[in-house]
Formats: sequence, structure tokens, C-alpha cells
Amino acid sequence: MNLTVFLGAPGSGKGTQARRLITASSQFLHFSTGDMLRTAISEKKPVGAKARVFMEQGELVPDAIILEMIEETLTPLHRDTRVILDGFPRTLAQATALDLKRTTRVNLCVYFQLPEKSLVSRIAGRITCERCEESYHLQFIPPVRAGICDKCQGTLVQRADDLESVALHRFEIWQEQNEALLKYYNEANRLCEVNADRDPDIIQQYLLNVLGA
Ligand code: AP5
Repeated sequence: MNLTVFLGAPGSGKGTQARRLITASSQFLHFSTGDMLRTAISEKKPVGAKARVFMEQGELVPDAIILEMIEETLTPLHRDTRVILDGFPRTLAQATALDLKRTTRVNLCVYFQLPEKSLVSRIAGRITCERCEESYHLQFIPPVRAGICDKCQGTLVQRADDLESVALHRFEIWQEQNEALLKYYNEANRLCEVNADRDPDIIQQYLLNVLGA
């Protein structure tokens, strides 16, 4: 399997770029652990019930739950599949667990860099489709019709964990884990940094080049 992981602070644009990449190139599959968990919650699955309490508080869901979910997702895939994981890994334990198996060793880690003040405005203006998880921004990437998803006509809402107090805690948790993850991938020469404080089309073109798509 050819695995690329997207790392970056909450709101840095990982999900936006991953969704654009799979639209631009059919070579990739995209899995977002955040989207998977939110789907599990809305479908009232047991894993959703376990994860919900952590997500509502802006805490990380325990590694064991996440690793089981990732294992179930990746195991059935053909070994030639090109996969983008967005929002995973969040901890060193998750990163090393993925690398333990030869078939799921990460090829490339793309790190989305953005100054803190841009992150705040990205989160504050984000609206997300209740149905398909597509994200928009009230100012930077607005939908064609206010409150309605361009892709599936679902309703656009603010994510519960984007409320300021929870979002701030998510940012603190991300800061605690981030350095160790960057060090881990940098030491293995698998780290690629992208300036995520630019127009989404420019970032997308850069990523298509980096990924050879
Ligand atoms: P998750 O859903 O993964 O949230 P996150 O990492 O905090 O990332 P976000 O979805 O907030 O941001 P993003 O980088 O995708 O930004 P986006 O593209 O939307 O996780 C949620 C929770 O689930 C966690 O807190 C945790 O509890 C749990 N969880 C998930 N994975 C886990 C794991 N592996 N281990 C443990 N727990 C886990 O963009 C943000 C905004 O900016 C949008 O409005 C967008 O339209 C806009 N935008 C994007 N790009 C641009 C641009 N270039 N210019 C202007 N605006 C832009």
C-alpha cells in the first residue's frame, strides 16, 4: 500500500485538500478518522458511543479504539492502493503502530503549516455538511447557496467541537503531540512541509506535484 498521512493543526486544511485530491485524481482513497468517528456517532455504532465523550471535550479518542478502526479500514485494501489518511496519526503510538506492518508503513507525511491567527479564523468561519462532511468557510470558501452543500444539498452546520472553548482545547492537545510526530517522520526522511496559508488551488497543485499524481 502507498500511504500518505496529512498532519496539521485543527483547521489547517487537511480535509479540504484531501477531498480535492480525490476529486482531481482517481488514484487515491481518502480516509479521515474524524469523519469516520462522526459517521459512527450519527449511525449510533458502539465505536461512536465510545468516541463521543472524548470528541465533545476536544480530547483525543484512545489509541486502541482508533487503531482498531484503522486496521479494519486498511486490511481489506489491495496492496497497490494509494491512500491518504487525514487526521491520523495523532500520537507517536499511532504512528509507530502503522509502521510496524510492512504493508501499512507510511511513505510520506505532509505537514500543513499555518500561523495561529489564520487557524483561529479558519475554525471560526467553518461550516460543515451534516450529510457528506464537506467543509466550507463563510468568508474564504462559501457555498453557492447559503447554508446548503454544493455537493449533496445537505444542511451546513457548525461542528460542535468548533465552538471556541473546545476548539482551543483541541489546539492545545495538538500542540502537545505535534513535535514528536514531526521529529519521527523527519528522522526517517519522510516529512514534507506545505505552506497551507495560501489559496486552496495553489496548495492543491503543489500536492498533486509532490504526490506525483
Ligand atoms: P478531526 O475531524 O480530524 O479534526 P482536526 O484534525 O481537528 O481537523 P479539522 O477537521 O478541524 O481541520 P482540517 O485540517 O481538516 O481543516 P478543513 O479542511 O476543514 O478530529 C476531530 C476529533 O476527532 C478530534 O478532536 C478527536 O477527538 C477525534 N479524532 C480524530 N482522529 C483521531 C485520531 N487519529 N486519534 C484520536 N482522536 C481522533 O479547513 C478548515 C476551514 O478552513 C474550513 O472552513 C475550510 O473551508 C477552510 N479552508 C481550508 N483550506 C483553506 C485555504 N487554503 N484558504 C482559506 N480557507 C481554507
